[in-house]
Amino acid sequence: MTSDPSPEGIVEPAARETRDALHRPLHDLRISLLDRCNFRCPYCMPETEFHDDYQFLTRSQRLTHAEILKVARVATGLGVSKLRLTGGEPLLDKKMPELVKGLAALPGVEDLALTTNAMLLAPVAVKLAEAGLHRVTISLDSLDEQVFRTMSGGRGDLQTVLDGVTAAEQAGLSPIKINVVVERGVNDHTVLDLLDHFRGTGHIVRLIEYMDVGNRNGWRRDQVVSSKELHAMVQQRWPLRPLDRNYAGEVARRYQYVDGLGEIGFISSVTEPFCGSCSRARLSSDGILYTCLFATQGTDLREPIRNGADDDELGDILSRIWLQRADRYSELRRPDVAEHHALSKVEMYRIGG
Ligand code: GTP
Ligand code: 5AD
Ligand code: SF4
Ligand code: SF4
Repeated sequence: MTSDPSPEGIVEPAARETRDALHRPLHDLRISLLDRCNFRCPYCMPETEFHDDYQFLTRSQRLTHAEILKVARVATGLGVSKLRLTGGEPLLDKKMPELVKGLAALPGVEDLALTTNAMLLAPVAVKLAEAGLHRVTISLDSLDEQVFRTMSGGRGDLQTVLDGVTAAEQAGLSPIKINVVVERGVNDHTVLDLLDHFRGTGHIVRLIEYMDVGNRNGWRRDQVVSSKELHAMVQQRWPLRPLDRNYAGEVARRYQYVDGLGEIGFISSVTEPFCGSCSRARLSSDGILYTCLFATQGTDLREPIRNGADDDELGDILSRIWLQRADRYSELRRPDVAEHHALSKVEMYRIGG
């Protein structure tokens, strides 16, 4: 990171760069605003588990916006330059634009993105852009009405989501990325149609291998469609050419259509793990900091914050967590490890994608 000279001409030291036990820097903070969602995607929040009586976090258990801003401010002081708001569904928080405004104003924030299912996006897209949001990533697994309904747990409305995509485009929240979790026998047969729809729009579709996150989706390896298989399927229809990574640690492998109609990404966390460059920390809506998507435990930041920890104290806690970090679950994923992990992993809806 470069630094501007101060008025006296002294070059300020760049923000402290914090590296973990495997020398990975902390660059990316993913903030889960809410554990609730208006969808019930079976791979994330299956309806049978997340029913009407399910106890989600209460307002007082969740971090306030001021508390989130404090964690984000401290994190940027440790070298975080990329913030992602996620959920559950973050747009269920009606005051989100105000939070975005606060986050966008933090020094050092170079990338401020939102992951959403877009059901509630169209009416607020302009407001979010005005508040300083840079871009959105939209989860959309199929353009087949029936498959879409199945994959959103019967809750989503496809046209509303597509209107959300259009509104985001008009508001300038680009590049817009479309995240597609591919599950064998569920939506794999609709992938090419979805790609066809978005080719030439400038939106970047990313095909994601179905992962064994959390404990509730009943994941089985045979449900995963590998990126290799997906790449071959796409390549056969529209030849692809690889592109360089945009930045170190980018999760998606990028390709462009040879005919010039845009970019596509493959996210292969099951078959080609990318832990070696993982620079992401995750904050749950009740203030627990996780250093891996597959973590079985995290560190509570809410208690020290509510007990009056100032920014320096919170910074010490955060750097201590990061310095000790040695997570690389996806690289270690083996049946025996998975089994040992199986019942205690944090759920994806609590820490976002
Ligand atoms: P860009 O900032 O646009 O490059 O996106 P991103 O790399 O932050 O990806 P995004 O947040 O859209 O995540 C897409 C999907 O990648 C998630 O839904 C997960 O399935 C997977 N993913 C993201 N981060 C991780 C990670 O740290 N570990 C694993 N195993 N999977 C991840
Ligand atoms: N495997 C892969 N991706 C997942 N997501 C949620 N659950 C899974 C899973 N089991 C992704 C969704 C969304 C983001 C919030 O997380 O596609 O883009
Ligand atoms: Fe909600 Fe996203 Fe999980 Fe689907 S994947 S249930 S939209 S948080
Ligand atoms: Fe990072 Fe954990 Fe995902 Fe590996 S499994 S890339 S360490 S979040």
